[in-house]
Amino acid sequence: MSNETPKEAMINRRLLTITVVLAAIAAVAATGLLVNIFEHRQEAKNPFFKTVELSDKIDDPAKWGTNFPMQYGLYRRTKQEAATKFGGDEAELRAPTPEDPRPTVSRSNLVKDPRLKAMWAGYAFSADYRERRGHEWMLADQQYTGRQKFAKQPGTCLNCHASLYKAYLEQGEGDIAKGFERISKLPYAEAVKLVKHPVGCIDCHEPNTMQLRITRPAFIEGIRALKASQGVADFDVNKQANLQEMRTYVCAQCHVEYYFKGQDKRLTFPWSKGVAVENIVQFYDDEKFKDWVHGDTGAPMLKAQHPEFEMWSQGIHARSNVACADCHMPYRREGALKISDHHVRSPLLNINRACQQCHHWDEKEIKGRVEEIQTRFFNERNVTMDALMGLIRDINAAKKNGATDAELERARDYQRKASFYLDFAMSENSMGFHAPQESTRVLAEAINFCRLGQLSLRGTASPTAPMRKASLQSAPSGGNN
Ligand code: HEC
Ligand code: HEC
Ligand code: HEC
Ligand code: HEC
Ligand code: HEC
Repeated sequence: MSNETPKEAMINRRLLTITVVLAAIAAVAATGLLVNIFEHRQEAKNPFFKTVELSDKIDDPAKWGTNFPMQYGLYRRTKQEAATKFGGDEAELRAPTPEDPRPTVSRSNLVKDPRLKAMWAGYAFSADYRERRGHEWMLADQQYTGRQKFAKQPGTCLNCHASLYKAYLEQGEGDIAKGFERISKLPYAEAVKLVKHPVGCIDCHEPNTMQLRITRPAFIEGIRALKASQGVADFDVNKQANLQEMRTYVCAQCHVEYYFKGQDKRLTFPWSKGVAVENIVQFYDDEKFKDWVHGDTGAPMLKAQHPEFEMWSQGIHARSNVACADCHMPYRREGALKISDHHVRSPLLNINRACQQCHHWDEKEIKGRVEEIQTRFFNERNVTMDALMGLIRDINAAKKNGATDAELERARDYQRKASFYLDFAMSENSMGFHAPQESTRVLAEAINFCRLGQLSLRGTASPTAPMRKASLQSAPSGGNN
């Protein structure tokens, strides 16, 4: 070094600097590449671009959507309407008014089958009952249903029709159970001011890890009661359920039969004896619960609503560990990514991803099999509905002819049961698909109740003919068997 000229020394220094800089650039580039590859790997597993810091204080799905634009884009598609043979929905255009700003409504079930009005005489459902449609509509459809005019509805209704987790936390000062109790007691018109969005990301996901979570106290309590009936004590769903169970449970927070318990209108799932229809009727009988008194016959009635989880539990797919999300939110590829289809809808609009991941029959064959199951069920449902109309007609005639309450008691009890069984099979929204054999079995039981009710009016039913008690073995409850 000592013999180099100042010029040489300067050149050497420059070379050294250039080399160092180049090496640094190369290092940065290499690290960048690694980071990039790593990110891609991570992405494929769990796409996570944090541009917004999410927390339980943010319930706007659009904000969550800045981190997860693909899931958000699909989620917003639940606004679209498309009909299948028995499912999906067909929009009816309507002129928006200040009282009801909806541009469309789904088809009226009461128009499609006027017998429903006789079935639910005296109850809000006889005023307005429509096809379900996509999640985007849930809040508006509840706010503006004709059932709101028929009777004052409680804040409890919102549990399944809005993004509520943030409101529960705020109203309960950090305790969702307390918030749930407070909001449930409010009149609907007041409670609805606390919410803005239909079910959102925050209701199914933990904001930091995006893990699935249960946010509804009624389900936390309901599943604990169900597990207890199966011999599992103190079940804590958010700690003990596995991922495949959670892929069903997030849906079962809402797609279930329910009632409002007591003065506080506490939302309760009637599962402490099991989730088969026998277990549920037994539960209501023991509680001496009725939803309403039938407007014509005077029978103490029960109304069943969307028992998708309960009916699915009785089917081959539950036994085979296939979750709601497997069919209704199937995986789809977006470039290198595998994401869950957040456009929750009829799987028949999406057979390729929803069914062909497991069944290698062609699309037409799959559709044909489903529609055959559904058509059989639909025909049987109509026969059952006629049988129920016959029983209602005969009880009314006996009443007109001066039969006493004591003389009508048995027939009215059969009407309560027949109506609930039919409703249970029919208000389950898959038209028999979720558990084909169980659905038609329930209809057959309902027809039998109608027959026994009519015989009891003639005095020819054996007074000892047993009311059917729970005869089923405890049902699987979500693929843990
Ligand atoms: C094996 C696939 C499969 C599983 C698992 C499944 N479903 Fe379905 N579901 C269907 C099919 C098929 C239909 C009928 C769709 C039609 O008629 O267009 C349906 C219909 C429905 C509907 C009515 C949809 C509409 O557009 O008419 C709802 C709601 C629903 N399912 C909820 C659930 C819930 C909640 C669970 C889990 C407890 C579940 N499903 C599990 C396949 C499945
Ligand atoms: C346990 C959850 C839950 C509660 C509580 C609940 N709903 Fe729903 N509701 C649902 C589900 C799931 C659907 C979609 C399936 C269906 O329509 O059967 C639905 C559909 C509806 C619809 C659209 C279809 C129709 O029936 O016309 C209206 C309107 C509605 N609910 C009003 C109400 C009102 C009013 C209350 C309070 C009395 C209420 N809901 C309470 C879960 C719930
Ligand atoms: C917070 C309550 C809630 C949760 C959680 C929920 N749903 Fe729903 N779902 C509803 C309501 C309410 C409707 C009816 C909305 C209407 O008719 O306006 C509905 C409608 C649907 C429909 C009918 C869509 C159509 O286009 O006809 C399907 C299918 C469905 N839900 C499946 C699921 C599945 C699968 C999950 C779980 C991944 C789930 N839901 C979670 C409340 C819920
Ligand atoms: C009704 C419940 C529900 C709602 C609402 C919901 N998700 Fe999901 N999400 C799921 C389920 C189920 C999965 C599948 C989880 C699994 O199998 O690990 C999932 C998975 C994801 C994943 C993991 C990657 C993937 O796609 O499988 C991301 C990210 C995600 N959701 C983002 C969102 C965002 C953003 C929103 C709101 C715009 C949202 N989710 C709303 C139920 C929901
Ligand atoms: C995750 C895998 C999975 C998915 C997704 C799935 N199935 Fe299945 N399905 C099964 C299994 C397992 C059985 C039980 C019979 C067997 O082992 O082959 C079954 C059985 C059936 C049966 C026969 C039912 C019976 O009672 O014998 C029909 C029909 C069916 N599936 C239709 C569908 C349709 C339609 C879809 C899409 C909406 C679908 N499946 C989605 C796994 C799946």
